[in-house]
Amino acid sequence: MATEIYSLPALIYGYAELEPYISEDQLRIHHSKHHQAYVNGANALLEKIANARKNGTDLDIKAVAKELSFHLAGHRLHSLFWRNMMPNGKDGGGSPQGKIADLITQEFGTLDRFKKEFSQAANSTEGSGWAALIYDVDVKKINIIQIEKHNVNVVPDYPILMVLDVWEHAYYMDYKNERNKFVDAFWNIVFWGKLNERLADAIKLEKRF
Ligand SMILES: [Fe+2]
Repeated sequence: MATEIYSLPALIYGYAELEPYISEDQLRIHHSKHHQAYVNGANALLEKIANARKNGTDLDIKAVAKELSFHLAGHRLHSLFWRNMMPNGKDGGGSPQGKIADLITQEFGTLDRFKKEFSQAANSTEGSGWAALIYDVDVKKINIIQIEKHNVNVVPDYPILMVLDVWEHAYYMDYKNERNKFVDAFWNIVFWGKLNERLADAIKLEKRF
């Protein structure tokens, strides 16, 4: 049996605690099946790579590198996603405070404008993907990006403050084809405090090179 290098992080809330915005069944399958599959995929690839090196056999590096990027990014993005949500009324929802609130005002004018743009990024992501809020260390700004799949259109080395998973597996049980309803619901469980924590870490990276 392979040594497990990556593991599924436990949620810090119960599967039913994000209801009614994300149902217990939807969250359970998303976390315990879909996220677990990326963890398993990354670990299987590491084992395959290690075995090929041990046995002196060739690897299809192009295919392995692409697959590893997909599974690792899937694992990483889901890990970020679970922690930037909290049950409504228990740190989830409401309005941001502190530095992230200041940056939102600075860049977007109002919280409503920010939510509108981020929602549009999520709703217009083609196929499977994510909306993400990143911090640009060089110009000290926050920016919205769209990630396709888990690993396309990612800006390397830009810290992620918040992500929203808009793969169908994230919402289909609850909202069917109405992704926009899931995106609207997300604002009731977004954990702004986590954005401030991540922002504080990101700001420390100022002199990177
Ligand atoms: Fe997902």
